[in-house]
Amino acid sequence: MTSEILQATASQVTVLIGAQWGDEGKGKWIDVLSKDTDLVVRYQGGNNAGHTLYIDGQKVVLHQLPSGVFHSNQRSALAAGVVVNPSQLVAEMTKLGPFGVSLSPERLWLSGRAHVITPWHIYVDGEREKSASSPIGTTKRGIGPTYSEKAARSGLRLGHYVRDSSRLAWVEKMSEQNSAFRDHLASHSQEWDEFHQAAKKLAPFVTDAEDLIRTSVSSGQKVLLEGAQGSLLDLDHGSYPFVTSSSTGAGGACQSIGLSPRRITNIIGIAKGYVTRVGSGPFPTELFDEVGKLIAKKGNEFGATTGRPRRVGWMDCVALRYVAEVNGLTGLVLNKLDILTGIGPIKMATAYQHPKLGLIKTLPWDTDILAECTPVYEEFPGWDVEIPKSGKIKDLPPQAIRFVEAVSKAVDVPVTMVGTGPNRSEALYI
Ligand code: GDP
Ligand code: IMO
Ligand code: MG
Repeated sequence: MTSEILQATASQVTVLIGAQWGDEGKGKWIDVLSKDTDLVVRYQGGNNAGHTLYIDGQKVVLHQLPSGVFHSNQRSALAAGVVVNPSQLVAEMTKLGPFGVSLSPERLWLSGRAHVITPWHIYVDGEREKSASSPIGTTKRGIGPTYSEKAARSGLRLGHYVRDSSRLAWVEKMSEQNSAFRDHLASHSQEWDEFHQAAKKLAPFVTDAEDLIRTSVSSGQKVLLEGAQGSLLDLDHGSYPFVTSSSTGAGGACQSIGLSPRRITNIIGIAKGYVTRVGSGPFPTELFDEVGKLIAKKGNEFGATTGRPRRVGWMDCVALRYVAEVNGLTGLVLNKLDILTGIGPIKMATAYQHPKLGLIKTLPWDTDILAECTPVYEEFPGWDVEIPKSGKIKDLPPQAIRFVEAVSKAVDVPVTMVGTGPNRSEALYI
């Protein structure tokens, strides 16, 4: 069935992105779709991501490895736009052993161009959040400081990290320039020891991943590019400053790999049938009532990386339409539709009302304005019968079909897949 979907869209290189503020179910869908794929590439972010998969009924959360890694016929890569926490990556690779997954350098390509998250960057992330008057609510994984270092052209690339002399020279240079860094080195020796030890383990995997990916594409292989975070957390196009520090959308995938946009044949967005957000920032359709609590409970909406409760709200088609336009979505997965069963009337925002600007139909660039918007809702009758776990979208109860079609129409993108549960098989297709 999944190969039919990929073939039906004549897909060669598919980008799969989160179409909301993250945690839409990217991990599950990458796992599902990668069964028929040769290569899966993570192109941005680091271990701030938490992608949940169920393998033979067992829950696994991946933070850095691509979510196709459980398919033994398939390769995985981390491209240049990713940031890597070395000791955490080694731990994640080791964690897969009991599942029979063994990663060889032929199966896992780590870009020498990717930047490295050091214990220092994690420390700086925590300190910035502590002292900020309006904290972003980051995952405190050192993401922002590592990308800042990269932009300042003083970062440590993975290819240099695995070379002892270059890594030590980088640490030396940082120590000379920054007394706080020097203090950190002295007071956090265990973290730094672990950081150094991981280099030997990762060295065999570090390669010119981008060249290998381009070669795979040119030779006609099927490639999936796995987004992390969500399009509304994009550094340029998201709800700045309450965003992550990378380019999370389809354009980010091309830039990270050095792959021509002309090569991308399919851009799939994943949205839940409602919206969640972890961390701070405006969220017009956020629910503070019993319905919100019920959705959060049914959907088990807790962060897969930090365990923080996720904020929950109604489907926001103003934001989703914006994401569809920014990324040129060719298809939409409406995920976790099973969670809306029995919820009663379901709401979907189609516009915002602003106290001064009146009716707004496009997502404002200014987050201060977004914070002052109230949603204009369209209401739909809910459904009480359990939805089918697998099969076709047309097998859904009529009320659910009405909702799916309304979302599709509001954002002008076909809904090609629907999520009905966390397992691989729990999916409906067009
Ligand atoms: P990601 O970061 O986008 O990969 O998403 P997360 O893994 O952080 O969060 C999605 C959560 O929803 C995980 O707990 C998944 O197991 C679960 N999930 C994924 N798809 C479905 C679905 O269709 N229905 C239900 N009930 N749960 C789902
Ligand atoms: P996946 O891939 C949801 C959020 C954080 C915070 C902001 C900045 O699982 O969807 P950062 O640590 O990146 O500097 O934090 O971004 N955030 C996520 N929210 N899912 C994620 O990843 C996220 N990764 C970062 O909560 O608001
Ligand atoms: Mg997640």
